[in-house]
Amino acid sequence: MSRQTAVVIGANGQLGSDIVSWWSSQGVAVVPLTHAEIAIEDFDSVRSVLGAHRPDIVLSTAAFHNVPKCEEDPARSHAVNSLGALNLARTCASLGSTLAYVSTDYVFDGAQRRPYLETDAPNPLNVYGATKLLGEYYTLNYAPRAYVFRVSGIYGRVPCRAKGGNFITTMQRAARERPEVRVVTDEILTPTPTMEIAKASLAILRNGAPGLYHVTAEGGCSWFEFAQVIFETLGLKTPLKPAVVADFPSPVRRPTYSVLEKGALKSQGLPLLPHWRDALVEFLRTSNG
Ligand SMILES: NC(=O)c1ccc[n+]([C@@H]2O[C@H](COP(=O)([O-])OP(=O)(O)OC[C@H]3O[C@@H](n4cnc5c(N)ncnc54)[C@H](OP(=O)(O)O)[C@@H]3O)[C@@H](O)[C@H]2O)c1
Repeated sequence: MSRQTAVVIGANGQLGSDIVSWWSSQGVAVVPLTHAEIAIEDFDSVRSVLGAHRPDIVLSTAAFHNVPKCEEDPARSHAVNSLGALNLARTCASLGSTLAYVSTDYVFDGAQRRPYLETDAPNPLNVYGATKLLGEYYTLNYAPRAYVFRVSGIYGRVPCRAKGGNFITTMQRAARERPEVRVVTDEILTPTPTMEIAKASLAILRNGAPGLYHVTAEGGCSWFEFAQVIFETLGLKTPLKPAVVADFPSPVRRPTYSVLEKGALKSQGLPLLPHWRDALVEFLRTSNG
């Protein structure tokens, strides 16, 4: 059997870099593409670059995902997150490639207060979430063989390019620079390491039916609990204090609860990711943090 080929778009990003390294280690012939090589909002770019490779699989982590900037520039958010997915889906349809699109827990409004299944109705509160949801629909309805992976609260060894870091690096900097660090207790999510998503994504593409998947660690916590584990594990001595969302007024509405239930993984007997706390402690102990 010939080796499976895959194009990974956003290959130098936080998630993309771990996908490239894990998939390559598992025998996939990966073509890593950066933004300098492909712009997903440009159909001609997508068609010519993917056409040159004709891969079995296209996975895109590319997004315009600085949430406040998406509010300020909805046209760009739509162009990249929604129309970019449509361009990829149409091109994958003509090439016969499988398409995988990385999406977000922000498609939900958070009102439910129990983990969201893939079958629960989305209701995005902001431009970022709405444009990612449309990207999901384009992916699932235009690509002949399509996967959508919703992820949440991700962190990895390579900083998120759009945000210049991740929550761990933000906490480390805050602990260095501030007399005390205040973090909210009333926004609940599931922190998830990008390497675990890289592993799960390949297992799903190899053994799972096409469709929509929630791909996060197990359990859920507030940003404050997330910070507590970081402070304890890294021995940060700056006082960490609880706060609430209302203490930090923002023009952007976000879901205050976005824990995702892994219904699709469970129903197909696919491996689950570890608990968020175990995964975080392991990550902090084995990286520079
Ligand atoms: N960060 C989170 O907590 C979180 C939570 C839920 C979902 N997600 C989703 O997870 C995915 C990956 O996030 P990440 O943290 O790995 O982001 P990241 O580090 O910013 O990586 C995104 C990659 O996509 C590239 N890219 C951006 N716009 C592009 C375009 N128009 N065409 C082609 N490439 C483009 C970026 O290149 P340049 O930097 O050079 O532009 C970068 O290599 C995104 O789809 C995001 O929506 C993230």
